[in-house]
Amino acid sequence: MRAVDERDAYANLLMPRLLRERGIKGRDAALATELAYGTLRGLGTYDAIIEMCSDRAPDPAVRDALRLGAHQLLQMRVPPHAAVGTTVDLVRLRIGAGAAKFVNAVLRKIASRTIDEWLPIVAPDAAHDPAGHLAVTHSHPRWIVSAFRDALGGAAGETADLLAADNERPLVTLVARPGRSSVEELAESGAEPGRYSPYAAYLQEGDPGQIRAIAETRAAVQDEASQLVALALTRVPLVPLDGQDELWLDLCAGPGGKAGLLDAIAAYGDLEGLAGSGTPDDVEARAGQRREAGPEAFPGGARLLAGDVQYHRARLVWQTTREAAVIAADGTEPAWRPGVFDRVMLDAPCTGLGALRRRPEARWRRDPSSIAELGRLQRRLLDGALDAVRPGGVVAYVTCSPHLAETRVVVGDVAGRRDDVEQLDARRYLPEVDGLGEGPYVQFWPHRHGTDAMFLALLRKRDGAA
Ligand SMILES: C[S@@+](CC[C@H](N)C(=O)[O-])C[C@H]1O[C@@H](n2cnc3c(N)ncnc32)[C@H](O)[C@@H]1O
Repeated sequence: MRAVDERDAYANLLMPRLLRERGIKGRDAALATELAYGTLRGLGTYDAIIEMCSDRAPDPAVRDALRLGAHQLLQMRVPPHAAVGTTVDLVRLRIGAGAAKFVNAVLRKIASRTIDEWLPIVAPDAAHDPAGHLAVTHSHPRWIVSAFRDALGGAAGETADLLAADNERPLVTLVARPGRSSVEELAESGAEPGRYSPYAAYLQEGDPGQIRAIAETRAAVQDEASQLVALALTRVPLVPLDGQDELWLDLCAGPGGKAGLLDAIAAYGDLEGLAGSGTPDDVEARAGQRREAGPEAFPGGARLLAGDVQYHRARLVWQTTREAAVIAADGTEPAWRPGVFDRVMLDAPCTGLGALRRRPEARWRRDPSSIAELGRLQRRLLDGALDAVRPGGVVAYVTCSPHLAETRVVVGDVAGRRDDVEQLDARRYLPEVDGLGEGPYVQFWPHRHGTDAMFLALLRKRDGAA
């Protein structure tokens, strides 16, 4: 927690390293992780309670200790004397006797009520300040609460469900890259088939890095909505129907989650609904059957070009893909001729507000001022994607954020000032998923789908003169 505060460390990168270095394993590791992640997620609520119980603003290190104690007292089943005792000992050891006395007094006050008793005392009244109320009760910054409420069309009840889902530990979702692995293979390692994506499997426990298919990059960890937005792009029939479908582009590919799936589908086809594990021969045979099923199941035989502006991220893409050509390239300064790609994935850099449940401290780090700058880049990249695709081809605009200024506003602006763009109803290409919104966009939600809040727009390129 000190590293997160002082040097902007990422908890989910640092924590596994610390546990390894200190040899903390099993249940102890789970406890340490819950202490750190839970405290970081909940500190918006805890700070409001700490403020009410203190007569002065604590120093940052003391404040972190108070948050850690508050999390144990209010959200974990740690006996109060142990929560107070261990926190006070920690402060005495690391900070000093005076601070320990202060922490002892504050934690005792906090321990005098349960979280359900504290919330009505510290949270603004829901009727007068609904966003402020939700911000304190669900520990999110107020501007994010407002952005989520806007994206959900103003529904306060559903906003609360979303915020609660953000505070849950997400399931680890795996992707079996078609032609390289299968859900059946992942099931042998204890994963269960996913709810929507034909390539998804949920891992309840265990280290995904230990699974052979993952170590060999035949499978990977990937949110189910990330899989589905990539799949949707491959399912859109191109115009003309019997025209070419050979060259795909992933414009912002690093670190390579979507590129890994697109690369496999490009090579082997979309094997959706076809059971059985995949040796390359089986896959060929099934891809043949699938070819007859209609234009929406991609039969295989395309090639992916994957680029990222950052060299080290392009390298990660190269490590996780097999057939794709990978380059370090700026999507706003194309390294390719215009109009040559049949399908383009633009998974744009964004605030990541749709994946807050994965990064405990992320909600406190994001800043609304970044949205304007990101918006300019998102528009330029979308123009770049539309320039890169051929007439009759299709572009997927994807963000891992439901913020309207990064999603429908960007798409509306860019499509509105070009005469060569037709917006498709993206929901049509994901018929297996309900609750995707009113269209033509697709919006996934953690509380509805158990996925990240991914956004998808599908845009067909027309001839400019048409
Ligand atoms: C949301 S991430 C992409 C995630 C990736 N598609 C995946 O599924 O793993 C956005 C990526 O865009 C890259 N990026 C930012 N500006 C770019 C630009 N001008 N051209 C190309 N890539 C860019 C970032 O380096 C980052 O890797």
